[in-house]
Amino acid sequence: MSFKIIILGSGRGSNAKAILEAEAKGQLGEVSTVAVLSDKEEAPILELAKQFNKPSHCILCNPRKARLNPNETTAFLEVIQEYQPDLIVLAGFMKIIDPHFIQSLEGKIINLHPSLLPSFPGINSIESALTFPVKVTGCTVHWVIPEIDAGTIIDQKAVTIEASDTLETLSKKVHTAEHQLLPEVILRLSTGEIAFPN
Ligand code: GAR
Repeated sequence: MSFKIIILGSGRGSNAKAILEAEAKGQLGEVSTVAVLSDKEEAPILELAKQFNKPSHCILCNPRKARLNPNETTAFLEVIQEYQPDLIVLAGFMKIIDPHFIQSLEGKIINLHPSLLPSFPGINSIESALTFPVKVTGCTVHWVIPEIDAGTIIDQKAVTIEASDTLETLSKKVHTAEHQLLPEVILRLSTGEIAFPN
């Protein structure tokens, strides 16, 4: 029986690529990406989905608003419900989703964040870790709740910050850690090694 996931992203989709590559190599067991969704028509993540022969959907959203509005929320939910996924993966999805969205898919949404939460929530997290400066940062996968970047932490991967690191080198290290962590967490959720809430 397959474990159906939907990936939501707004940008280049390197984490979606890590998931899709691992799936294509047979490294993700029963995990099957059933669709890739984006809020931006020009997002490379949508092109990537095509390369992996996955259905992709763009739900155009107001680019000036950080939050999905009620119509946008309904549009996302309608597409998601069609696929009856076991898990929704926010991989670089830069819109804030509202409580109705979260309640409708309760306990089924995970988010990837580029810091060791609860440090550096919100935006520019890699830059903030570098300029703080802390010695260790990394990435986190957590359950999504209405409070931003605040849900229960599922797993994290740490990255050491060297004195010589720049935003570019540190970003590369964090992204490499993300590309390992996110597919690993999805696999462990699919096998039951990590339990769903409730
Ligand atoms: C990732 O670093 C992810 O942690 C971050 O966006 C990037 C997406 O990269 N997410 C957030 O900042 C969410 N608050 P990608 O499009 O190459 O996967």
